[in-house]
Amino acid sequence: MYDLPDYLAMVEDRQRTSAYLAAIRATLRPGDHVLELGTGFGYFAVHAALAGAAHVWAVEPNDAIALGPALAARHGVADRITFLQRRGDQVELPRRADVLLEDLRGVSPLMGRRAAALADAHARLLAPDARVIALRDHLMVAPCMAPEGARERPIDTPADMLAAPPSELDLSAVRARATAAWRRVRASALHPLADAGCWATWELRQALPTDLRGSTECVVRNAGEMAGIGAWFDADLAGGARISSGPTSPATVYDAAWFPLAQPVAVQPGDRVTIRMRATHDGGEYVWSWEVECRPQSGAASAVQRGTDLGTRLLSPERRARRAATAVPARDTAVDLHAAMLARVDGRRSLAEIAAALRRDAPTRFAEERDALAFVSREIARIAEGAEG
Ligand SMILES: C[S@@+](CC[C@H](N)C(=O)[O-])C[C@H]1O[C@@H](n2cnc3c(N)ncnc32)[C@H](O)[C@@H]1O
Repeated sequence: MYDLPDYLAMVEDRQRTSAYLAAIRATLRPGDHVLELGTGFGYFAVHAALAGAAHVWAVEPNDAIALGPALAARHGVADRITFLQRRGDQVELPRRADVLLEDLRGVSPLMGRRAAALADAHARLLAPDARVIALRDHLMVAPCMAPEGARERPIDTPADMLAAPPSELDLSAVRARATAAWRRVRASALHPLADAGCWATWELRQALPTDLRGSTECVVRNAGEMAGIGAWFDADLAGGARISSGPTSPATVYDAAWFPLAQPVAVQPGDRVTIRMRATHDGGEYVWSWEVECRPQSGAASAVQRGTDLGTRLLSPERRARRAATAVPARDTAVDLHAAMLARVDGRRSLAEIAAALRRDAPTRFAEERDALAFVSREIARIAEGAEG
């Protein structure tokens, strides 16, 4: 969940914002109707209106959207932007849009429900020949040396904070899990040993497989210890405008990802490294698997190492089982409480009335009237706003 400083950092990211504004100028035609998915506080929506859009529907579940109308009014385009505080799949439009403007990426272009959000927008909200910003994301990887400290501790934790362990507890099992997970790093912390390769390209107007696999082969340029894979994206927005979140470009708000290997491998110039990546969507987030095969130029035996974040995402076996397609949810007190609450949502009762009725049903669950009201307003808002989990 982003806060306002995050949104400010996004628009102040010079590489990202300049490329998006260039793409908007290259793509928009006067009179276009534009849909922006994930508008934040409306920065790109206002630019789309200034570039001549007849109307912009600016969609965003986050409260940052509350600042959009004032920004639009300040720039004289308030009458051409409709701000809708909800997720894209909860929106109905009076006509299909001619242009989609979207950046639902995070560290990776493969984030949560982005693919579902784009598929839904194309199916219901966009004209069949709609122009899109962005066009495609290239998923890039390179064998890299360890970012500083990456093997012992989460990156970016100041070393002096960890200097003296305050107890003798054996943390090796916790540490093994924590250091095996992929994680976010500054792109500048990645030290590639070879030119990067592209393991998959997502044409953003096309559906993405829920099980995405790909590979690329790199030839090592610099001798060093390969400790993992650095990953980032190169995006073609539109009209030739591009973004790269990789280590040879100016820093971006996206940062980059680090996929560690269990054992570093010494590599020499000319060695060939095949990187195989797999991202499987489990309905919530992506489960990542990675494999590195190193074939030394010397003719020595090749070495293969694999990693996965399946065991490191702290999803307990019980939680995982509960989310499986074959799981059969049981009625329990939590389900009954939600069912009783939803049964009272009829377009007439207020939250306070629903809460009072619920407290009569379950007097031991809510000690005070205000506890019941807090529960009802939170749960109903969560459903209405489409918040996850
Ligand atoms: C990377 S931010 C971009 C914000 C803004 N476009 C900007 O450039 O300043 C992505 C935004 O998409 C929103 N978002 C995520 N899923 C969404 C969905 N399904 N529909 C609409 N917005 C969504 C998030 O809340 C977040 O604010």
